[in-house]
Amino acid sequence: MKALILVGGFGTRLRPLTLSMPKPLVDFANKPMILHQIEALKNVGVTEVVLAINYRPEVMLNFLKDFEHQLGIKITCSQETEPLGTAGPLALARDVLADGSGEPFFVLNSDVISEYPFSQLIQFHKSHGGEATIMVTKVDEPSKYGVVVMEEETGKVERFVEKPKMFVGNKINAGIYLINPSVLDRIELKPTSIEKEIFPKIATDQKLFAMVLPGFWMDIGQPRDYITGLTLYLDSLRKNSPSKLSKGVNIVGNVLVHESAVIGEGCLIGPDVAVGPGCVVEPGVRLARCTLMRGVRIKKHACITSSIIGWHSTVGQWARIENMTILGEDVHVGDEVYSNGGVVLPHKEIKSSILKPEIVM
Ligand code: GDD
Ligand code: MG
Repeated sequence: MKALILVGGFGTRLRPLTLSMPKPLVDFANKPMILHQIEALKNVGVTEVVLAINYRPEVMLNFLKDFEHQLGIKITCSQETEPLGTAGPLALARDVLADGSGEPFFVLNSDVISEYPFSQLIQFHKSHGGEATIMVTKVDEPSKYGVVVMEEETGKVERFVEKPKMFVGNKINAGIYLINPSVLDRIELKPTSIEKEIFPKIATDQKLFAMVLPGFWMDIGQPRDYITGLTLYLDSLRKNSPSKLSKGVNIVGNVLVHESAVIGEGCLIGPDVAVGPGCVVEPGVRLARCTLMRGVRIKKHACITSSIIGWHSTVGQWARIENMTILGEDVHVGDEVYSNGGVVLPHKEIKSSILKPEIVM
């Protein structure tokens, strides 16, 4: 089977992290977002993944070359010369996706995290005889997503409304699809939205089906949702592979510490923390609801909550970092500095406190 991952866009909502890395390569729970997806695809027998890209393909390919070998899966790029939206890229990659096997292919939004229940998706898709299956999930605030109205028993989609202004329902498109090659005949090679132009038509033809996604789901393309997503992901690790989580007197709740990270004496870590490869957390540090990316150093007695610390940044002694502070790559926060929601661009040095949420250029 084949898969296409939609990797376009500039990831502006995840700045300053996406100033250093394309969004799919930003680490989530200690590995690039997109690797979570590629591994799960590999596990259900996908042999080739096409990355539909319109931004810095060389960075992406260089990075993924190693994983191609490690995972034993072919990874190619399909590059747009103009952004083709969420459907146009399928037409562009038509030759790879419609390989004559007649097999359906996966399409994923690159910023969604879940347990990726792909085998259930395949099973359901083969059972209903429609042209496409989308996974849906329930959310409290459906207006920022694509809303799906479906027949409960059969899963047949009656309506698909992208970002509705009025309440239509609370089941939303999770950005995970299984699609028959015949759908490619509905898509022209031009900028096209799969949500606005293609799904509504397939629904009208009664060929679009939806399956409620089991387990957790989150679009992690925004900082607050990224942290919520981490909490849900770690919760699911606790249920499915608890041995991956850290244990010890200084650990509270669900905590993931990379094997190459060093944690000093007298720290209190958790709940909902990811400490990336090569991080050094000096003695007496407090961490909760936060992510430290590769190579971060947190100096003695600093306290970090609800924040993301970008690659190779450092936080000084007795510093206090909280309320969705995001430090870009290689940011250095001085001793005793306080940050309340500061969003700091890469390569900055912060010597005085940031008292209210603001962007530091
Ligand atoms: N190659 C390519 N070209 N990819 C693109 C382009 C493009 O022109 N535009 C967007 N993408 C990719 C994004 O990188 C992302 O992976 C995916 O398409 C969806 O775009 P977003 O910008 O993240 O859309 P959204 O989050 O507002 O809404 C989408 O996702 C929701 C679930 O998170 C829609 O699919 C909604 O229906 C859905 O509920
Ligand atoms: Mg998104």
